Amino acid sequence: MAESQRTVLVVDDDGDIRTLLKDLLTDEGYAVTVAPTGADALEQIAKDMPDLVMMDVKLPDQDGIGLLRQLKREHDELEVIVMTAFGGSSTAIKAMEHGAYDYVTKPFEIDDLLATLRRVFEHADMASEVSALRLELGKREAERERIVGSSKPMLEVFKLIGKVAPSDATVLITGESGTGKELIAEALHRASKRNPHPLVKVSCAALPESLLETELFGHEKGSFTGAMTMRKGRFESANKGTIFLDEIGEMTLGTQTKLLRILQEREFERIGSNTPIKIDIRVITATNRNLADEVKKNKFREDLYYRLNVIHIHMPPLRERKDDIPLLVEHFLVKFRHAPGAIPTSISEEALQRLVEYDWPGNVRELENAIERAVVLSRGNPITVEHLPFGDSREARDRFKLAERRTKLESDEEILADRRDQLDADEADADAADADAPLVNGTGNGDLSFKDRVATLEKQLIKEALDRAGGNRTKAADDLGIYRRLLYAKIKEYGLGE
Ligand SMILES: Nc1ncnc2c1ncn2[C@@H]1O[C@H](COP(=O)(O)OP(=O)(O)OP(=O)(O)O)[C@@H](O)[C@H]1O
Ligand SMILES: [Mg+2]
Repeated sequence: MAESQRTVLVVDDDGDIRTLLKDLLTDEGYAVTVAPTGADALEQIAKDMPDLVMMDVKLPDQDGIGLLRQLKREHDELEVIVMTAFGGSSTAIKAMEHGAYDYVTKPFEIDDLLATLRRVFEHADMASEVSALRLELGKREAERERIVGSSKPMLEVFKLIGKVAPSDATVLITGESGTGKELIAEALHRASKRNPHPLVKVSCAALPESLLETELFGHEKGSFTGAMTMRKGRFESANKGTIFLDEIGEMTLGTQTKLLRILQEREFERIGSNTPIKIDIRVITATNRNLADEVKKNKFREDLYYRLNVIHIHMPPLRERKDDIPLLVEHFLVKFRHAPGAIPTSISEEALQRLVEYDWPGNVRELENAIERAVVLSRGNPITVEHLPFGDSREARDRFKLAERRTKLESDEEILADRRDQLDADEADADAADADAPLVNGTGNGDLSFKDRVATLEKQLIKEALDRAGGNRTKAADDLGIYRRLLYAKIKEYGLGE
């Protein structure tokens, strides 16, 4: 492969030096341009960026260190070698501190000078190779290892990931439930330069407003009853990394306002504190709602919507990319083949056909669950139509749907339980620190006991299920995966009946 010629700009007010270096470096195969002053150098760089600048620190029109700083500020990747007079070691050190790659002293030792130049280019080669490699790796990870898809819409998604992952741009991921939004968020983080730092995920739907806010922003000790110790919020934990705000469409207007401020100012305060905390984070959000509609209904702040929607990745529903189904089936077969108790499995032509025909309202998640279930039911025999959730009776399908919902409910409960453990641990810490402290029983103003918080969540879940079911209680109970009788009792308990 022919290597393109390296370009070097020599900046020196001494005409003899300019000529000497130009001849020498041209002989060595570099393309050389020269500039007698700092102003001239800047003009040339603006027109045509060289690979390397060799500059005298003493320039007639400006301080060489000042020029160096300006160059490094404006063109981070531009390498600079500084030329100093013999004995000017303090200037040389200063130049290195301000980002020069190396320095050479006048009069030149030709061999040293050329060796220094070669080192710069080797270094630059390596740096660009590393970043290209990283990007390629990130893309590969996103495209091949975890996110399966070869349909046209998915290839578009992959391209977008490759393009935006390395930037810090805020990304909004939309798409129906189960289309892989969370997977995309993970791929974006992994393929970005923030990947050594945490990816912190918060579901904005799982917690009521006040709990979500303490979760996000943290609180100071004593900021409310029960806040026995200082607790860092998720924004703080995500510093230098990425925060993934899932189900952003469920965030209340009050919390939206606080989020907007973080996005604008990149700082926030813990609850109960006035001290702003600076953070450096990338924000990725996801929702299965149409946020533009929510804006129209005044449920979502328009200004926040524009801030979040800088880059938009839309995950098409599975029924619009049926080409992906066979690949996904294969992927999940491999995945569940290694599940405890499961044995290698194949699938019949007919069963695969049925999987491709089905419309998958629950998208990839529903397909994944169907394969997991089929692997278990087939007990090592090839999977056939009867192992599929829609292959047998309606009753079996309903049972399966219920089990699926229950899993989702359980995961919400797990989040709450985690939160309770955390609070308990905080309280235990505080108790240990101060045995005389009054016991927190949650009856204080403004704060709720665990039981009350669970009740709040429960009420919210039921309300939402009723909304979704258009008030149909049988449907809502089904949706929640609870008995109708229990739902009736809860509706009465919370006064949700009209
Ligand atoms: N293209 C894909 N390749 C492999 N697995 C996928 C793909 N898309 C989704 N999945 C799997 O499907 C499941 C659901 O994906 P994910 O949780 O990312 O969906 P989601 O869009 O966030 O859904 P929800 O809106 O319900 O939260 C996960 O187990 C995920 O690993
Ligand atoms: Mg999700």
